[in-house]
Amino acid sequence: MTYEVFATPQDAAKQLAAEVAELIRSRAAAAQGAVLGLATGATPLPFYAELIRLHKEEGLSFANVTSFNLDEYSGLSNDHPESYWYFMHQNLFNHIDIAPENVNLPCGTCAPEEVDAQCQAYEDKIAACGGLDLQILGIGRTGHIGFNEPGSDDTTLTRLVHLDELTIKDAAPSFGGAAGVPKTAITMGVATIMAAKQVRLMAWSSSKASIVKKAIEGPVTIDVAASYLQNHSDAKYYLDAPAAAEL
Ligand code: GLP
Repeated sequence: MTYEVFATPQDAAKQLAAEVAELIRSRAAAAQGAVLGLATGATPLPFYAELIRLHKEEGLSFANVTSFNLDEYSGLSNDHPESYWYFMHQNLFNHIDIAPENVNLPCGTCAPEEVDAQCQAYEDKIAACGGLDLQILGIGRTGHIGFNEPGSDDTTLTRLVHLDELTIKDAAPSFGGAAGVPKTAITMGVATIMAAKQVRLMAWSSSKASIVKKAIEGPVTIDVAASYLQNHSDAKYYLDAPAAAEL
């Protein structure tokens, strides 16, 4: 696992987007697809903005891309402004030429008795596409990747999880207070993420500095899901200087 520190989130996002564009273009040149794992949150916004720019100004096509998002809140319909489906369409998919049928997110609204089968189907679909070529991640202040809260070990797969209190607190402003935040979500597991051929995690600002230090320099522990990335053969953190300040 490696990390690189950039002057600004925009600089980091630009470099990561160039890497992803190269993956997509090299696969297209070989008449192959690229399978991307995508993340939500404020962190990847400059990265998505750069992908959109590459599409609009430099002709990068996403026609050969299949995407799988990490997670989705329970109970939010696709048109709910805080759903990750809505977020991804607003901030990326509506602005590029990815085929709608190649876009995948966990289903946050399926009936409780269908959740396990839906999660297994999500895993099966990733496998049927040849696995994730590159997984994009942010990091929550609990050390979560996706919604793998403390207690998620490296055997976990896509499943229903209960959100940590700190995660609910961090999400509260978007939901008009903590009471409005869904208490559960569907997330890819740590094992799902670890199976990606490449993992790229972005983190910005001093609010992430202490968890970034724990994830990179602390022990590999069930208490910090991102720490498992220390065991990945091709994982890299893209940091701005404030996020890297405690390293
Ligand atoms: C949510 C998402 C994570 C994301 C995290 C950090 O919990 N499920 O995938 O990494 O928030 O969000 P932000 O990037 O807004 O700090």
